[in-house]
Amino acid sequence: MTKKTPPVKKNELVELIFEDITHEGAGVGKIGGYPLFVPYALPGEKAKVKVINVKKNFGFGKLVETVEESPARVDPPCNVYYKCGGCQLQHMSYEMQLEMKRNQVQNALKKIGHIVDIPIHPTIGMEDPWRYRNKVQIPVGSQNGELITGFYRKRSHDIIDDMERCIITDEVNDRMIDAVREIANRLGISAYDEEKNRGLLRHIMVRSGQETKQTMIVLITKKEKIPALEKLVDEIVKTYPEVKSVVQNINPERTNVILGKKSKVLWGDPYIYDEIGGIRFAISAKSFYQVNPVQTKKLYDKALEYAALTGKETVIDAYCGIGTISLFLAKNAKKVYGVEVVPEAISDAKENAKLNQIENAEFFVGQAEKVMPWWKAQGLRPDVIVVDPPRKGCDESFLQAMIDMKPKRIVYVSCNPSTLARDLKILDEGGYETKEVQPVDMFPQTTHIECVVWLELDFVDQK
Ligand SMILES: C[S@@+](CC[C@H](N)C(=O)[O-])C[C@H]1O[C@@H](n2cnc3c(N)ncnc32)[C@H](O)[C@@H]1O
Repeated sequence: MTKKTPPVKKNELVELIFEDITHEGAGVGKIGGYPLFVPYALPGEKAKVKVINVKKNFGFGKLVETVEESPARVDPPCNVYYKCGGCQLQHMSYEMQLEMKRNQVQNALKKIGHIVDIPIHPTIGMEDPWRYRNKVQIPVGSQNGELITGFYRKRSHDIIDDMERCIITDEVNDRMIDAVREIANRLGISAYDEEKNRGLLRHIMVRSGQETKQTMIVLITKKEKIPALEKLVDEIVKTYPEVKSVVQNINPERTNVILGKKSKVLWGDPYIYDEIGGIRFAISAKSFYQVNPVQTKKLYDKALEYAALTGKETVIDAYCGIGTISLFLAKNAKKVYGVEVVPEAISDAKENAKLNQIENAEFFVGQAEKVMPWWKAQGLRPDVIVVDPPRKGCDESFLQAMIDMKPKRIVYVSCNPSTLARDLKILDEGGYETKEVQPVDMFPQTTHIECVVWLELDFVDQK
């Protein structure tokens, strides 16, 4: 048998017509059926490409020059877009981003979940798809003896030293990063050096309530002791009255994980507040809170619509975080049970229920896959289950427990179309038909997409 050799060689210059785009945002062009993946190339474009990596069945290229440009190509407004890995789609019009995300969901459902012929609605986008993020976590380094802050250059741990702004994050976050870096620099606080495993300040995290304008600063350090701590905190809080909480998180490990296990409040409250849809939330440093509050409201409204509550239902909100969806649902349900693995998030959820005088929501710490069978054994029979798992999707034992509980309706909120499609297939085999899918753009300028899915128990299976 003859071995098929790729039709291109490394470093060769080729001209390609791009037909498609991957879910990571790279253009796909083919030479005699052999696909080349090229970042920043758009479907419909013709371009000169340098081949940089040749594998047996596909290769990678670098865009050298566009010969025919797509009408969807735009100038990326960020000055470090091509260095930073944070955004992948700033060179694409927003309309095309929304369309691409819907297609991505459709393809995953078809290929992985074998789900076709159901309505997948057009992606709900933002009116102004910039400055939407309420949280930023930025690495700290040093250059010529001065502290610098900036995201890492793509596929590296080198800080981009000319990054001044991040235009997808709230302006207040940018200002706070500059302020904290400048004060810490003046007080001689050192940056953590990953290679030598020395130094102190690893990251600065800023979280802000877009509705309340309250801000939390989190200093992530290698060791507990911070020199000139009092002056540092004093200067931050006296200069910036919007700061309501300063927290230190200690991460002594040699790791890529940003937050360590231990946190302590240096000044103010352990949380800040924000509001979505008239519900007030307390958010602490380690709790998950959706990063785009404008779109979160649209996402939760859709989840509520799909849950179709009348006030008589018992509802489970699995992977509930600080109880955001639970509290949205509680207003229209008889009782809501939330489960979440992070203890701090559950104490925030309980606090949030009190804060909003919601008495029909109860929260439990634990792994959803363990708590669900226990609830079932206790005789809990939910009418509706809402799930909002992390990117890896639901554990199979969780899905099975959900199927065994036989709720009439399931609302699945997902930030990963591939694991969503895998889980929908399992639910389909368990008697749950996918009725509708609504993609919501929670992360403009990036390839990420969120979906809300409505599933119903098949009539036959209800007997
Ligand atoms: C995508 S977030 C959703 C949070 C919340 N529903 C919201 O909208 O803010 C997923 C949550 O699942 C939690 N989590 C991860 N694994 C879990 C597990 N095995 N059991 C329960 N919760 C888990 C995470 O801590 C996180 O808060």
